[in-house]
Amino acid sequence: MSRFITFEGVDGAGKSTHLAWFADALRERGLDVIVTREPGGTPLGEQLRAMVLNQPMSLGAEAMLMFASRIEHVEEVIRPALLAGKCVISDRYSDASFAYQGGGRGMDWEKLKELEQWVGIKPDMTLFFDVPIEVARQRLSSNVSLDRFEQEQGEFFERVRAGYHRRVAEDPERFRVIDAALALDQVKQQLTSIVGKIA
Ligand code: TYD
Repeated sequence: MSRFITFEGVDGAGKSTHLAWFADALRERGLDVIVTREPGGTPLGEQLRAMVLNQPMSLGAEAMLMFASRIEHVEEVIRPALLAGKCVISDRYSDASFAYQGGGRGMDWEKLKELEQWVGIKPDMTLFFDVPIEVARQRLSSNVSLDRFEQEQGEFFERVRAGYHRRVAEDPERFRVIDAALALDQVKQQLTSIVGKIA
């Protein structure tokens, strides 16, 4: 059974909008669902989030802070919730580190795999909201304040998207690839069929 579910995609793919709806749909079917996010999800994680999204830093520091936030998140929130029989949905998780620090910024993939070993818990299912970068950029253009990642240029996001595709190819069973370029209703249809298989 899929109890730990993660949502992934480039900035502007629309995953956060769909996440709220998806969690409600699972609750309506009787599941006890908690929603959380990365970087963040704990008091320490939220402090790390503020730092890593806004303060310039070396790539190694950026990757390690993402994983520090994640390890705290697993120990304090995700593992206890799963042990209590809850369904956990996280807005981003380890795949984002591979896509952004690995694909986007060029950090060595194997180094990231070493960091991933510290984490301990792997998602049962990951919904990847895939969208052409021009579409994602257009959706972001109405945001007034953009963080350090959102301020990057188009080529950066092309590399992030390629990083996600590499992750999908490495573990196709875990991923559900959602065509997030479609209209909201059509994306919802894709999600409804996934909800039906979970609960
Ligand atoms: P995001 O999840 O898009 O939040 P919001 O919708 O509030 O903007 O923002 C988190 C940013 O952090 C996003 O640009 C991707 C980046 N990120 C990484 O670079 N590595 C990671 O491991 C994680 C979890 C996020």
